[in-house]
Order: sequence, then structure tokens, then C-alpha cells
Amino acid sequence: MQEAVQLGDLEDRLDAARSILVLTGSGISAESGLPTFRGVGGLWRTHRVEELASAAGFERDPVLVWTWYNERRLAHRAVEPSAAHVALAKIEQNAADFTLATQNVDSLHLRAGSRNVLELHGKLREAKCTRCDARRPFDDALDLNALEHACGGMWRPDIVWFGETLPADVLEAAFEAAGRADLMLVIGTSGMVRPAASLATKAVTQAYVVEINPEETALTAHVDRSIRARASDVLPHLVT
Ligand code: APR
Repeated sequence: MQEAVQLGDLEDRLDAARSILVLTGSGISAESGLPTFRGVGGLWRTHRVEELASAAGFERDPVLVWTWYNERRLAHRAVEPSAAHVALAKIEQNAADFTLATQNVDSLHLRAGSRNVLELHGKLREAKCTRCDARRPFDDALDLNALEHACGGMWRPDIVWFGETLPADVLEAAFEAAGRADLMLVIGTSGMVRPAASLATKAVTQAYVVEINPEETALTAHVDRSIRARASDVLPHLVT
């Protein structure tokens, strides 16, 4: 029987918080059965980052890249939001000021009912044209024989790839939320990728920062408290 996770004063801090920022990574979606990037069986353990998640890789082999994103899109549709995703949506409902900045592109926070969601690394719900920035839904696998757009450009996933800048409005909103937060939860991220991970550092936020992760991460030394547990072992207990 798993011993109860010691939440300490986290419930009281949550109740007293005037402004909350939550930063999530693929670890919370592992609760829904999706692979993480760097963990055991992670996507970057079995795929080549530079070939699949970079503009150069896309230019070199767009069909390979779309094949991979088609697989990921179908995997997202095959799973449901976890108890952890649902708990965050409930915490938001009870909070005065709540922002959820996610590095995930799987839409699980939105499907769980979260409202104020900043998708830092894009989302796998749309494709965009490399030339004219036109958008189109990406609900079903994209036809690999129809990747060209009428304007002469190509459809690409609406994802921020390595070496690309995050959407300026989304990033600005995330850093503004970090600046006004007095409580921050960092859930299911290795903290390896910036600028997302910077949100949790004291240079950016004066919040009391709590990490929820079964493992130590690049952020552990920077946070005020690190709870060594899975998201679903903690978040449902924080919902009043
Ligand atoms: N609950 C909480 N945390 C978990 C769980 C769980 N059930 N399972 C795994 N984790 C943790 C792992 O310990 C790890 O620290 O989730 C983290 C996942 O880390 P990564 O695989 O590096 O994923 P992430 O931090 O989201 O990667 C950030 O890197 O590849 C890019 O753009 C991609 O958004 C991604 C970014």
C-alpha cells in the first residue's frame, strides 16, 4: 500500500494563495499513458530529436516528421485526461487568479476543463503553412500526399521546434503570471528546456515554488519544496 504523500502545509498555501501559476510537462500526461521525452521509454530515447522536432529535420524529410506527428496525434486522441489533469481544472475553479503554462501539446489540460491554459510549445490540434501562416485543423492524420498548401508553402505541425522561438504573446503572459504568483506548482517536467523552465526560477518569480515529480530534476535545487511523488498521488488530495 503506497504510504500517503506528506503534503504538509501545501493545502493551506493553496487556500491562501492570491495568484497561482502551474507549469506542467510530459510527466503529467504520463498519468494518461502518454510517453514522456527523456524518461524510460521516452520519445527522445527512441527517436532522434534533431530529425523530428526541428525545422531542418522537417525540411530534410517532411514525410518522416508528419508520420511521427500523425502517430502522436492519434495517441493523444486514444487517451483521456488523468485524475491529475482533472484536479488542476478543479483547483483553477476555486482559485482567484490561476494560470496553467504547459509544455505539453496533447490538449489534455483543455479536455480536462482547464481554462486559462498557455500552450508554450504549441498544440497538435492545428497545422500551419510554412509560407503564409494559414491554419487548418489537425484532428485526423494528415494525408502524407497532400502536404503542399495552395500558396506554394507546406503544412507543418503548429509546434515550437528546437531552435524556434515560443509564441511571444504566450511567453509574455507566462512570465507576467510568474511575476505576480505567490504560489507556483511545477509538475512533471525535467526542467531541461528553456525558457519554460526559467518560469520556476527565483530570477523570474517570487512565488513559493513546489515541484511534484517522482524524480529529482534540473529545477529541484531551485524550488522551495520538492515532493517526490507522482502527480496523481498529490493533486487530487489538494482539491477541496
Ligand atoms: N507525475 C509527475 N511527474 C512525472 C510522472 C508522474 N506520473 N512521470 C514522470 N514524471 C516526470 C519525470 O520524472 C521527468 O522529470 O516528468 C518529467 C518528464 O521530463 P521530460 O521527459 O524531459 O519531459 P518535459 O520536461 O515535458 O520536456 C520538456 O522538452 O522535448 C521537449 O518540447 C519538448 O515540451 C517538451 C520539453
